Amino acid sequence: MSKILITGGAGFIGSNFVRMMLLGSDHEIINLDALTYAGNLENLSDVDQHERYTFVRGDIADPMAMDKVFADHRPEIVVHFAAESHVDRSVLDATAFVRTNVQGTQVLLDKSRIYKAQRFVHVSTDEVYGSLGAWGYFTEDTPIQPNSPYSSSKAGSDLLVRAAVHTHHMDCVITRCSNNYGPFQFPEKLIPLMIANALEGKKLPVYGDGKNVRDWIHVVDHCEGIRKAMELGKAGEVYNFGGDAERENLFVVKEILRLLGKGEDLIHYVKDRPGHDRRYAMDSSKARALLGWTPRHTFESGLRQTVDWYVTNKPWWERVRSGAYQAYYQQQYGAR
Ligand code: NAD
Ligand code: DAU
Repeated sequence: MSKILITGGAGFIGSNFVRMMLLGSDHEIINLDALTYAGNLENLSDVDQHERYTFVRGDIADPMAMDKVFADHRPEIVVHFAAESHVDRSVLDATAFVRTNVQGTQVLLDKSRIYKAQRFVHVSTDEVYGSLGAWGYFTEDTPIQPNSPYSSSKAGSDLLVRAAVHTHHMDCVITRCSNNYGPFQFPEKLIPLMIANALEGKKLPVYGDGKNVRDWIHVVDHCEGIRKAMELGKAGEVYNFGGDAERENLFVVKEILRLLGKGEDLIHYVKDRPGHDRRYAMDSSKARALLGWTPRHTFESGLRQTVDWYVTNKPWWERVRSGAYQAYYQQQYGAR
């Protein structure tokens, strides 16, 4: 049994990972989260009374606060999810992205070194590799060529982790994953946004020609990959995870409408995202071979399950879509 500090555990992927570790391991879990607009403790209401679970509210970019967290809890492992994660928001204003994703990661690396955490797992993204043309895949050797403020801030954090390994001999691994979907995803991202809008009879805003391609992976498959990297990964290594499910955005949107029994007249083409990456596709053969990882969900079954989850859990997304979200939605989509 180890003490694991999970940052960003109240967000989409982090909360799925916290649940997996509480229900499927004997590790002690400290969930450290600032509870930004994307952090929601309701995501963990089924497990938050667990005897091996502690929640701490804190900002990873605040060195004094992090010093106290590390001194109080002395984690043996750090699994770092906390980030500003939405590309469109980074286009509107990148300030929080640089602060949390870049500065916050360095603060966590410093505290992990000072307080002698044995392993640091950095959760990163395929977006650091940039954009692909019609064919080919990102491997761990693909050069880093991020295109958005979000992906650039993630690339910056990846490089700081790399430096911690080389300069301070820290035991860090980096995971890079493609687009996640599944329960508890904040409805600003493509799949939950389209489901929620369709359920409310609102327009479904498709950027550009709708032919951008993403490689979709179920969040539980991603969490299993992170767990394998935490347990079996080698210091200084990067591991790619993808769902082998490349789909055009328009295909995904039409599939959601079909599953909900709604008409395609809800589709509304809007101005393209500035700098919109055309295609992502992951080669996960390294993780399959060296970590024994394999995704268990097909896109078809995972999407059906996800649509059902959002239908059943309407009160959850109605609550997160109230308040500050409305102002963001107006800024992002209002003037189109
Ligand atoms: P999310 O936006 O749903 O959650 C982010 C969490 O981090 C929230 O709980 C938020 O409160 C917390 N947070 C933000 N700033 C913080 C700060 N300064 N201090 C402490 N906590 C803070 O994000 P997600 O989609 O769950 O992504 C989690 C991680 O996985 C991110 O690092 C992201 O880059 C990476 N990732 C995401 C995807 C995806 O498809 N969503 C794919 C690959 C990698
Ligand atoms: O690839 C991994 C990344 O996937 C993660 O690192 C990011 O944290 C995560 O947000 C996600 O980034 P994307 O920009 O790919 O995801 P998003 O859901 O925002 O968009 C998916 C695609 O859908 C993209 O091509 C843009 C398009 N889109 C998105 C929205 C929100 C639309 O056409 N309309 C929309 O309203």
